[in-house]
Amino acid sequence: MKKETVLVVGGAGYIGSHQVKMLNEKGYNVIVYDNLSTGYRDLVTIDTFIEGDLADKSKLKEVFSNNKIDAVIHFAAFIEVGESVKNPAKYYYNNVVNVINLLDVMLEYNVNNFIFSSTAAVYGEPEEVPIQEDHPKKPINPYGKSKHMIEQILEDYDKAYDLKYTCFRYFNAAGADDSGKIGEKHDPETHLIPLILKTALGERDEIYIFGTDYNTKDGTCIRDFVHVNDLADAHIKGLERLLKGEPSDVFNLGSGNGYSVKEIIETAREITLEDIKVVEAERRAGDPAVLIADCTKAKKLLNWEPKYSLEDIIRTAWKWHSQ
Ligand SMILES: NC(=O)c1ccc[n+]([C@@H]2O[C@H](COP(=O)([O-])OP(=O)(O)OC[C@H]3O[C@@H](n4cnc5c(N)ncnc54)[C@H](O)[C@@H]3O)[C@@H](O)[C@H]2O)c1
Repeated sequence: MKKETVLVVGGAGYIGSHQVKMLNEKGYNVIVYDNLSTGYRDLVTIDTFIEGDLADKSKLKEVFSNNKIDAVIHFAAFIEVGESVKNPAKYYYNNVVNVINLLDVMLEYNVNNFIFSSTAAVYGEPEEVPIQEDHPKKPINPYGKSKHMIEQILEDYDKAYDLKYTCFRYFNAAGADDSGKIGEKHDPETHLIPLILKTALGERDEIYIFGTDYNTKDGTCIRDFVHVNDLADAHIKGLERLLKGEPSDVFNLGSGNGYSVKEIIETAREITLEDIKVVEAERRAGDPAVLIADCTKAKKLLNWEPKYSLEDIIRTAWKWHSQ
């Protein structure tokens, strides 16, 4: 027998497509709603795909009236920090206004379980690492601000309308499904591991390291990478918790381990057996030296444990990119 019905908005994107596959494998009834603005139909491994925009309230209402939806997982956002600085309206419209639209329709149809993809960018420049959930929220770009706004809106909606939510603040999502059939596909690609692997494949000439004079072990920035299937697993644990009637909450999701940019390139060289050309460049504005998650809360309350190592992340991503 199928379990509950979950609407995954943004399920044709990188993280959403892995979520959809895992939910389906666990027996949930899954519906994907996506406008394919940055997603791909061929990343969706199930048949129940609806092409639609979150701005289209009447289409959303149709979905809610035709299906008995138990919970909604939201991945449908724009994600490029640099673009959000140049064109904040695009980000506030899609990442804030369109989420409010979705919440309106959910409340109208009495669906009150919501899982939201937030980001470590809500913290801004860290005052302490590892970063705990109660660290001050001082996002330094419209992307991070848009996510923080929704977190605050959700708090108010819980109090006023009894909307139950779980926010997950991801650090750096990476890796691909072990099947090699779905993986990270952003255009333009701005994330470190795919850029390194595209260099290994000869699709790019070199990989830039921005800043080699940080106060870190080898002078390059340190980041926390978490495998996309570990993220998906945490969402399922968060979903089960919400469906049991547990209260709204916010969790960091990372591996809890920090790797320097140089270490990541070195690991990629070992896995791909390619000589990856590196160009050392000046620091970029807004890049903190070290970002590492404290995931104690997710481990304790969700009984979640990330399973994939950095090697696993790069190996699965390499399988995907080299196909
Ligand atoms: N990738 C990361 O490292 C990372 C880190 C932190 C947080 N996040 C968050 O995770 C979520 C997913 O990120 P991703 O890397 O999978 O991005 P992605 O661009 O691959 O996926 C986003 C999906 O949402 C869809 N979408 C966007 N706007 C929509 C709209 N108005 N209506 C319907 N569908 C819409 C896109 O077509 C796409 O399929 C985002 O909310 C992002 O902010 C990602």
